[in-house]
Amino acid sequence: MVDTIKLPGLIDPHVHLRDPGQTDKEDFYTGTVAALAGGFTTVIDMPNNLEPITTLERLERKIASAKKQTVCDIGFYFGTLGDNFVEFPKVVDKVKGLKVYLNITTGGFTVDPTKLSAIYRAWESTKPILLHAEEDVLDEVFKTVSEQPKTTHVCHVSSKKELEFVIRAKEAGLPVSCGVTPHHLFLTDEDAKSLKGYGYMKPFLKSKVDQDFLWQHLKYIDVIESDHAPHTKAEKEADPPLFGVPGLETTLPLLLTAEAEGRLTRTQLIERLHTNPARIFGVPVNEDTYIEINMNEYVIVNDELLTKSGWSPFAGWHVIGRVHRVVLRDQEVYRNAQVLVQAGNGQILS
Ligand code: DOR
Ligand code: ZN
Repeated sequence: MVDTIKLPGLIDPHVHLRDPGQTDKEDFYTGTVAALAGGFTTVIDMPNNLEPITTLERLERKIASAKKQTVCDIGFYFGTLGDNFVEFPKVVDKVKGLKVYLNITTGGFTVDPTKLSAIYRAWESTKPILLHAEEDVLDEVFKTVSEQPKTTHVCHVSSKKELEFVIRAKEAGLPVSCGVTPHHLFLTDEDAKSLKGYGYMKPFLKSKVDQDFLWQHLKYIDVIESDHAPHTKAEKEADPPLFGVPGLETTLPLLLTAEAEGRLTRTQLIERLHTNPARIFGVPVNEDTYIEINMNEYVIVNDELLTKSGWSPFAGWHVIGRVHRVVLRDQEVYRNAQVLVQAGNGQILS
């Protein structure tokens, strides 16, 4: 008999679906199909498109494109380079938060940390400010959030030092949450050597000591976010490769496998993939939105993935847990790798 489990629809608050602008890597249809295949019924998309989403007009164009294509629910973040504050009041009701890149990554729209304080002042909303903030900028972040305690989510915490910063901020009573990616939980700088470009992302993969620290301090990690960042194989084999790895279809099986190995509990898994992201990012939950998962072991195979990018740094891994059915608001939307609804069936969240 096949063992099947049921979980609430998962929420991934950190994806890059590349639409508009780079739909050779992914688009709103293929990205949300990959989300369903991975058990995610809601994703929230980052603003570092080819043309960064820093104006109302660009945001509206992006939302219009999503409306026609998505098969799961989707929300968006706004972007800033510190020079578009007049846009903030125009977009605040249409987005799930504001993303600020304080370190170099894909798209190259890095904000100088000295501008952070002015950005915090201009964001007059309780919706979260999300930070790409690696080790070198954390002092500036602590100072800003201490002076202006606005809701802050630190994305993809990858090292002991970064998580220690989050712990210190939480213990100081600051309104800070954090996410960790599956690649930082399951891969290290040793894997980066053999994966080459396919193990190249920002933040970079870290040491085993850093990785162990993340697992040992799971109670401080609010969210496990895929940072689904598809690029083509050619781009990953180039010198230098582009930063980022796809993750929507591998996050849940990696975590269910870790659960079977006794590394986290079912409750901890549901908190980080559903309850906490729903609370932090204001995603409505619905009892009639759920997923069913076949708990047999299988091997992750690139050619079976539904992301347009067609590869995973976890190809060849033996894992437990393949999503076989997804029900969204009482409607069966996915069964056995088939999407059962038309493009545009997903809801746009505001
Ligand atoms: O590796 C990454 N890729 N890290 C990021 O912060 C951005 C992402 C992307 O957009 O490719
Ligand atoms: Zn990202």
